[in-house]
Amino acid sequence: MKVVGIDTSCDDTAVAVFDGEKNKVLSSLISSQYEVHRVYGGVVPEIAAREHLKNIDIIFDRALKKAEISVSDIDLVTVTYTPGLLPALLVGLTFGKGIAFARYIPFKGVHHIEAHMFSPFIEKKPEFPFLALVVSGGHTMISVVRSLGNYKLLGKTLDDAVGEAFDKVAKMLGLGYPGGPVIDKMFQYYDGDYLVLPRPQARGVNMSFSGLKTAVRRLIENGYPEEMIVASFQKTAVDYVVGKLKKAVRETGIKRISVSGGVSANSYLRKKLKELEEKEHLEIFLPEMKYTADNGAMVAYVGYLRFVKAEGIGDSFTLNAYPSLPITGV
Ligand code: KG4
Ligand code: ZN
Repeated sequence: MKVVGIDTSCDDTAVAVFDGEKNKVLSSLISSQYEVHRVYGGVVPEIAAREHLKNIDIIFDRALKKAEISVSDIDLVTVTYTPGLLPALLVGLTFGKGIAFARYIPFKGVHHIEAHMFSPFIEKKPEFPFLALVVSGGHTMISVVRSLGNYKLLGKTLDDAVGEAFDKVAKMLGLGYPGGPVIDKMFQYYDGDYLVLPRPQARGVNMSFSGLKTAVRRLIENGYPEEMIVASFQKTAVDYVVGKLKKAVRETGIKRISVSGGVSANSYLRKKLKELEEKEHLEIFLPEMKYTADNGAMVAYVGYLRFVKAEGIGDSFTLNAYPSLPITGV
């Protein structure tokens, strides 16, 4: 079964082709709008939608070509329908519905966060239960995953997402957008001392990042060196998230963990997770680097898993796009 996965939830136009039976990604292409939004220091929804509109059919054609299939070979279309920027989501959703409708094939809407949660298991097989830490530009949360569609939220950020904090700190220092990769690179070259930043207060497994941002602003005003500020911020933010994950493991006793989303590409986070894995005898699953940021493969993978679980029943073409919705059960 050839599955197409489409994601236009934010600023990347992503299309992938996944072979369900072979459990193999045949192609996964991403057209980044990074250059377009950089001048604004963040993503402008209306501009993102127009860029998706320009790119979607080109990326779709290329993804099919790379997978060596034609439109008539597609058996299922899967598309992110929530959460995300509404005008951006609508482009991918409408495009996907159009393909499915014209070809008389099923179509499945996919929740973007659920797609991230399963991204470490692409081309593998998830074993349940596991803890899912999602660290992206829009979300930061820890949930228990009992099975596909059965989730219990343990904690989440009460204000900014961790990726958003990276982006805002980079913006304050004029380092460009997105901030995560730039800050991470500076961190890797830094070998000085770290400043002690205040640990944000949030109960239990909940998190908070807005205080860290304020602390960084103060350091900038007080003239601390840029590299020192950036490195101290990354260290504090990552140590904080890892500490919360440790707490979630202690609370639940679950030792299998998926860590996903754009920030899961972070070098220091990966290093700390490796240490935690060894020390606490955990099994931590991270996505391949190409599946850390938004991509179509994770959408196709989860869309396919849900399609199989629903015994081959697709969604209605009346399915709409939503800026935010909880994940539905199966
Ligand atoms: O998952 P993603 O591509 O999009 C959302 O669903 O939000 O995540 C994007 C976020 C951005 O905030 C970006 O700065 C951050 O991931 N990011 C990183 C790194 N690479 C991307 N943050 C820290 N370290 C990185 N290496
Ligand atoms: Zn994402």
